[in-house]
Formats: sequence, C-alpha cells, structure tokens
Amino acid sequence: MSTMKNHHKDPEHLFYSSWTFSKLMAFFFLLISISYLFYSLRFVSHSYDCDQNPHISISHVSETTTTSTTSSLEEERETPKEQAFEETNISHIVFGIGASAKLWKQRKEYIKLWWKPNEMRGIVWLEQKVKNEVSDENLLPSLKISEDTSKFKYKNSKGHRSAIRISRIVSETLRLGMEGVRWFVMGDDDTVFVTENLVKVLQKYDHNQYYYIGSSSESHLQNIYFSYNMAYGGGGFAISYPLAVALEKIQDRCIQRYPGLYGSDDRIQACMAELGVPLTKERGFHQFDVYGNLFGLLAAHPVAPLVSLHHLDVVEPIFPNVSRVQALKRLKVPMKLDPAGLMQQSICYDKTRTWTISVSWGYAVQIFRGIFSAREMEMPARTFLNWYKRADYTAYSFNTRPVSRNVCQKPFVYHLSNAIHNADTNETMSRYVRTQSNPACKWKMADPTQITIVEVHKKPDLHLWDKSPRRNCCRVQRTKKKGTMVIDVGECREDEVVEL
Ligand SMILES: *[C@@H]1O[C@H](CO)[C@@H](O)[C@H](O)[C@H]1NC(C)=O
Ligand SMILES: *[C@@H]1O[C@H](CO)[C@@H](O)[C@H](O)[C@H]1NC(C)=O
Ligand SMILES: *[C@@H]1O[C@H](CO)[C@@H](O)[C@H](O)[C@H]1NC(C)=O
Repeated sequence: MSTMKNHHKDPEHLFYSSWTFSKLMAFFFLLISISYLFYSLRFVSHSYDCDQNPHISISHVSETTTTSTTSSLEEERETPKEQAFEETNISHIVFGIGASAKLWKQRKEYIKLWWKPNEMRGIVWLEQKVKNEVSDENLLPSLKISEDTSKFKYKNSKGHRSAIRISRIVSETLRLGMEGVRWFVMGDDDTVFVTENLVKVLQKYDHNQYYYIGSSSESHLQNIYFSYNMAYGGGGFAISYPLAVALEKIQDRCIQRYPGLYGSDDRIQACMAELGVPLTKERGFHQFDVYGNLFGLLAAHPVAPLVSLHHLDVVEPIFPNVSRVQALKRLKVPMKLDPAGLMQQSICYDKTRTWTISVSWGYAVQIFRGIFSAREMEMPARTFLNWYKRADYTAYSFNTRPVSRNVCQKPFVYHLSNAIHNADTNETMSRYVRTQSNPACKWKMADPTQITIVEVHKKPDLHLWDKSPRRNCCRVQRTKKKGTMVIDVGECREDEVVEL
C-alpha cells in the first residue's frame, strides 16, 4: 500500500550506520562510567543515612525555594518520602485561554466540554467585555480583559495584532500571583483538553526546572514557515512555573524585537529561543492544521496520551450526522471511564475470516478485508486534507497512507455509540455501530457486511502511561450474538505480537 521511491537513500544509510557505531561505543563507555558513579554514590549515601533517597530530597529542597517556605536542611532530611514528593495534580495547573469577544458565543461551548469548575483554575482572556448568560457563569473559567497592547509594534501584513495580546497571556496570568502553581497551560477558545492525560504528561517533568512542552503542526509547511521548535498555541502548551517567571521578566522587551512575526505562539518561541529553552515534544497535543475528516488521525493515534484537540470548527464533526459539539460530548463518556486509553489503537486479525481489525478505543473500530501489517495500520489514512490546500501528502510532518480506491479494501467503519463500566468484571464495554454501508465487492471471502455492531471489552488502565509506551493488543472473541463482533483489548500478553 505504501510505496516509496528509494533514491538518495544508500549514502545516507551508510553515514548513518558508521555514525551509529561510534555512538554505540561512546554509549558503552558512558554506561560504564555511570554504573561506577552510581556505585560510588550509593556507597556515600549509605554511609550516612540508610533511608534517604537522594533524588527525592533534592527535588523537595528546590520546591521549598520556589514556594519560599522556610525550613532548614536538617528538617528536610527527616521528612519521610511520601511527604517529600507530591505528585502533580490538576490543582497545580493554571490555564490561560486566549479568546475573542466576537466568537465567544460559539467557542465557549468547547470550553464547557472539558472545564471542571470546582477542580480547575484558569482565566479566559478577552479583548473586551462579553455578555455571559447566567446559566454559564458556573460552568466556565473566570473572564478577564487583557491589558492594552497598542504601544507594541506589529508589522506582519497577513496576521492580526491581537497576537501580541494572546502572547502576553502567560505573563498576565503569572502576575495574578496565584498560589501553588507548577504549570501554566495555554490554549485557544477552540481547544479541548483531556485534562487527566495532561496531568499525566506533566507528572513526568520536574516543574522546578525550565520546561516548554507542546507539539508541532501536522503540516510540514507550517513548521517550515513557523518553526519545528515551536509549540503550536491551538494544540496548547505548558510552561513550568520558573520558566514563566523568567519569560515574564523579558517578554515585553522580547515582543518588541519581533514585530514581523505572525502569531502569538511564534512570539513565545522567539523568547524561548532567547532563553535557550527548546521545545519538549509531546505527541498528544494536537494543533490539527488540517481540513476535512479527522478520522484517519484519530483512528491511528500515536502511542502517547491524547492531550488536546483543536480547530474543531474547521474540521468536520468527529462523529457522523451530529453537530460538532454533540460529537465531542459523546467522547466524554469513554474519557471518564478510561482517559488513558482514549483513542489508543490496537490491531489484530480475525484469523478464520482473514480480516484485519483496528480499534481506536472510545472512538471507532474498523474491519478490513484481508491482512494488513501493523506498520501500515499504524499510519493514519489520508481522510483529511492539507492546511495548504494545494499541497499533497509529502507536506505532512509524519507518515500517512492513501485511502484505498479498491472498493473491497474500503474499511467497514463502526463509530462509538455508548460505553459503560461493569463493576462486576471491572471492565468497560464500549459499543460501536456502523453508520454507512460499504459498496459491493466481488472478492470470494467472508463479508463484514453481516457485522453491524462491535463490542469492545477493556479493563481501564490507570497506569498505562507509567510504563514504557506500547500499543495495546486486541483479540477477537468467539460469540453467538448475531451480527456482533466481540473484541477484548488490553495489555499485550507475553509473546503476543501482531502477526497472523
Ligand atoms: C494535589 O496535591 C496537593 C499537594 O501538593 C494536595 O494537597 C491536594 O489534595 C491534591 N489535590 C488533588 C485534587 O488530588
Ligand atoms: C441523521 O440524524 C437524523 C436526525 O437526528 C436522523 O433522522 C437520520 O436517520 C440520521 N441519519 C443517519 C444516516 O444516521
Ligand atoms: C475492581 O477494581 C477495584 C479497584 O481497582 C478493586 O478494588 C476491586 O477489587 C476490583 N473488583 C474486581 C471484581 O476485580
């Protein structure tokens, strides 16, 4: 299905292998030195305190510096582990949402989808006052009007100077002086966050250090025009507290140095470059610089927690025959039952009928006639169009596969209809139904037309992202239910791989 021309490949390949060899040697020596270092460190720490974990005490000391509580090092040493290290949770995050008064009436519906008023902290920043219905007041973050930015230079003929206002949201939010903040997370009014997964991602990083976390655009051209080092604002990005402090000190001067830039996120990136802080890429932040149908991207999500969705006004509704907001509401059910598993792909075969099955948990199931390899199935199918409408598939920043023109290879698609948790078995059961009929096919083999419903059983896995990334496995189960396929999804068992 995927054919690639092999020109210019060999010299590059040779260079790559010799480079790898020297790297391997360096790595080997590094390994030896590190083991020795650890050995000696252990010796040292054991010699004065058996219970102490050096890593944990260090992070606690630096944490108290930023929250400026006074306690001596002597006391620190006696703090038990559990108290010394408090995992990041939703209360440590403050959201800064860039919005405009003109679009507020429709855009606020996207914020309501993910905002939990009693758990989350954040501000929606607008350029002028808007009328909020009373019924909305308790469902949304508080609204604030951004500072006047008319004194700043803006010289990009294609963009809009509101970019400066949006860019300064980080600094303006910081200056509110909220307590116990570890991360500032920026997003647009048309960004939907999966906050459980956002927390999971941020837990991996030390908030006492400088971190700028987000992701690139799907469009290679966008990344060329802006930067591969830039976190796209619509996909959302996170800035650790001390980095926000450092940014705030320079931001206004920094903005004046780049009047020619287009947007708010490239202005942030320009200042990050001055601070010398690179982008830490997390693949679950989605800018979605595409048009058309997101299906291909959502059915083959990378093995990373789904953190955000953006440009939901631009693309088609993610479920057929419902409005955009209604479609996203449907996702809330699986999001609640098993956020870590949301949109995670698993691939398996129905051996007796020679079909390939691809599950995107909580979203859709596909059945293909014939056997496709895992490397093909994990590539998103091009159901969507490029941001630059005349560009083709070479202008994406990741691999994609064509949608087959052969009617027999067109997948049977089942979309999520509902999901429940069964307390007796501790499993979720999600049900997917076919909404479109497939064209007639003359292949003499089992026909998935008979299957109208797919039922997927899966145990929620809270710790999925605490382990090394690995795709879940799926297994087709025997069933007597007519017209139904039953699939089990879960962690792969020993020696379980996607093969026929
Ligand atoms: C979040 O962590 C803090 C400690 O830093 C704790 O006091 C608080 O109860 C936690 N909140 C939630 C919602 O888990
Ligand atoms: C689409 O939705 C409408 C109204 O909600 C319903 O009457 C119609 O049958 C649906 N069409 C399909 C193909 O599901
Ligand atoms: C279900 O999971 C909960 C929490 O993980 C556990 O306490 C309970 O014993 C489990 N129940 C069954 C039937 O496995």
